Amino acid sequence: MTKTENVLRAIEEAGNTEDKLIEVLLKVQERSRENYITENQLEEISQELEIPLSKVYGVASFYSLLSTHRRGENVIQICNSGPCYVRGSRNVVNMFESALGIKMGEVTDDGKFSLEFTSCIGSCDVAPAAKINEEVCGNLDKKKIDEIINNIREGVK
Ligand code: FES
Repeated sequence: MTKTENVLRAIEEAGNTEDKLIEVLLKVQERSRENYITENQLEEISQELEIPLSKVYGVASFYSLLSTHRRGENVIQICNSGPCYVRGSRNVVNMFESALGIKMGEVTDDGKFSLEFTSCIGSCDVAPAAKINEEVCGNLDKKKIDEIINNIREGVK
C-alpha cells in the first residue's frame, strides 16, 4: 500500500473532519509495519483534513500511542515516573536493553522490538511496570522480561 493509499483509506474509514484527526492518525500508524507516521503522511493528513501541519504534528507527537519516528513491530514502553523509578525501573531498562541488545529509543535489527520511556500508565500498584504493545505488565523482573520477549519471538500471545 502506498503512503497516499494508506492515508486516503484511513480518512475514508474514520471520516474527514477535524475531530477525526486522532482516529485517522491511529489508523495510518496501524497499517505501518514500523509503527509510526511518516512526515509525508503527516503532510497528506494535514492537506486532506485541512488542518495546519503544525497541529497535526503536535497531536502526533503528544500522544504516547502515536509516534513520528520509526519503531519496532512490538513497542515496549517502560514507565519512568516516580513510583516505578523508586521500585527499580532503571533495572528494568537495563534488563530490557541487555536482553534485546539495543538502547532506549532504538529498534532491533530485525525490526521486531523498540524500547521507549513512558510516563505513568496507571499501574503503580504493580511497579515497576511497562506497556508491551497494548498490554500492561507489572512487577517486572528478569524472569518476566525474558518470558515476555520469548513469547513475542515465538508468537505466543
Ligand atoms: S508510576 Fe509507573 S505505572 Fe504509575
